[in-house]
Amino acid sequence: MTFENLKPLVVAIVSSENTTRDEKLLAICQLLNESVEYYNWVGFYFANHEAQTLHLGPYVGAETDHTVIPFGKGICGQVAVSNNNFVVPDVSAQDNYIACSFTVKSEVVVPLFVGGVNIGQIDIDSHVIDPFTEADERFLEYVNEQVATLF
Ligand code: SME
Repeated sequence: MTFENLKPLVVAIVSSENTTRDEKLLAICQLLNESVEYYNWVGFYFANHEAQTLHLGPYVGAETDHTVIPFGKGICGQVAVSNNNFVVPDVSAQDNYIACSFTVKSEVVVPLFVGGVNIGQIDIDSHVIDPFTEADERFLEYVNEQVATLF
């Protein structure tokens, strides 16, 4: 499915009634994981700004030990500090990377802004080397803009 076709489905999930925010976030993870072949792990992390840590929220894919990540650590932790998208075409080329599984070859993390504050991020792992393009970044920014309306 194309990103343009996925956008209205994301909007439908966000605006669905009688579901909690976490159920919506999980449904978005499921949609993206099922619809994009190279999205093999899809999840949200949320920031605790006092503790300077990220906390795993709803996700789809292999279970991870990394449910709490300090700001600055790994790709996720760096995005918590930089406020910028981070595309990693090949995780083996990264020094500051937290490996979840040897099957993961690449990763993209896009920050989630609410009222200009970076409150978390969407994190996607792929089993393929270098699959992410600017189209993925624009799409994931769109997803996060929709998700931001839930906060
Ligand atoms: N690889 C991430 C850790 C989180 S997992 O991908 C689920 C990182 O380096 O921050």
